[in-house]
Amino acid sequence: MWERGLLFLLLVYSTSVYSASIPYRSLVMSTHKNQLLVFSGLEDWRQHDVINYSKLFLLSLNPVSNTRGISISLRENREIVIFSDAGFNTITAINVTNVQNAILLHIGTSSGVGQLGVDWVSGNCYWVDTVYGWIVMQAIPKDFSKVNSLNPNFKMVVDTYIDIPTGIAVYPELGYLFWTDTGKIPKIERSSLTGEDRKLLTWQGVIRPTSLCIDYFVKRLYWTDPGRGTVEYSDLHGNGRNILVSSPGSSFYGIDIFEDVLVVSEWSSGAVNGSVKLFIKADGKQATDKTIIRYGTPAFSISVFDAKRQPLDLSREFHL
Ligand SMILES: *[C@@H]1O[C@H](CO)[C@@H](O)[C@H](O)[C@H]1NC(C)=O
Ligand SMILES: *[C@@H]1O[C@H](CO)[C@@H](O)[C@H](O)[C@H]1NC(C)=O
Ligand SMILES: *[C@@H]1O[C@H](CO)[C@@H](O)[C@H](O)[C@H]1NC(C)=O
Repeated sequence: MWERGLLFLLLVYSTSVYSASIPYRSLVMSTHKNQLLVFSGLEDWRQHDVINYSKLFLLSLNPVSNTRGISISLRENREIVIFSDAGFNTITAINVTNVQNAILLHIGTSSGVGQLGVDWVSGNCYWVDTVYGWIVMQAIPKDFSKVNSLNPNFKMVVDTYIDIPTGIAVYPELGYLFWTDTGKIPKIERSSLTGEDRKLLTWQGVIRPTSLCIDYFVKRLYWTDPGRGTVEYSDLHGNGRNILVSSPGSSFYGIDIFEDVLVVSEWSSGAVNGSVKLFIKADGKQATDKTIIRYGTPAFSISVFDAKRQPLDLSREFHL
């Protein structure tokens, strides 16, 4: 009954979207409210003073919904947006080319479910749960129209020596999973895609490492640390650490890459309107600062939907 009710609600919200598909060069954002926002036209942001709201999409969920993490798979013909919902305690996948075609991947997360990462090569989705203190993985079905029941199987990936996992990122071709831990000993770790071969990458001088993203072309790991007011990076082994942006007091939260810029969301307590900043990857200079004013809502996890974001290796097969 619970499942049936949820599926029904999904149908209700999915009919209230603005458009049938999400275009490339969009930013998808969670708000910790009953909204998932999609802003298109990222390429125009530097030229114009305001974000062009005429291109804005809104997925309006049930009022108890509380959108948290966002991740995107850009695999050809399987372009999918996945989000976690700390109100419904679910993981939902939306077909980008036909947003009415959404499915529930998982029911029963804690209300501390957080960010997600996608292995777009094997077709698996990972998420962190800050309350259960684990990282789990589930296969993404190949064809949503053939899904008529919930797949109860998920794989526990990491559940030992992990406290409050917060951010997560996947590098499928190298077989790496990265996560941040904002628990008693804040740190950034790496493992294989099945949770083995763990390596502690960064622990000194991190306070609240919150979100991660990977530049797959130069093999660099970026993270936000709102505890320090920084955007920092290292290589994939934790070496060559550097602070790209330092702005004490800034609550940087979500982070992703669009061409030569890092897109960073900023949240601060009491802020009515979220803000998004663009920093040039090469020097950390601020390219622009945009306030999300239309919905009077803070900005949290973000994911860039852009064809160039995820390199593909089609020699490996999509796993089920
Ligand atoms: C905003 O979007 C509309 C529709 O796509 C377009 O006609 C208009 O030129 C855009 N304005 C700016 C300032 O980008
Ligand atoms: C998404 O929708 C498109 C168009 O309807 C379809 O061709 C594709 O197979 C769907 N993808 C999934 C994963 O179901
Ligand atoms: C938030 O956005 C609204 C418009 O939706 C604006 O009127 C208000 O001044 C903004 N508040 C702040 C604190 O920037």
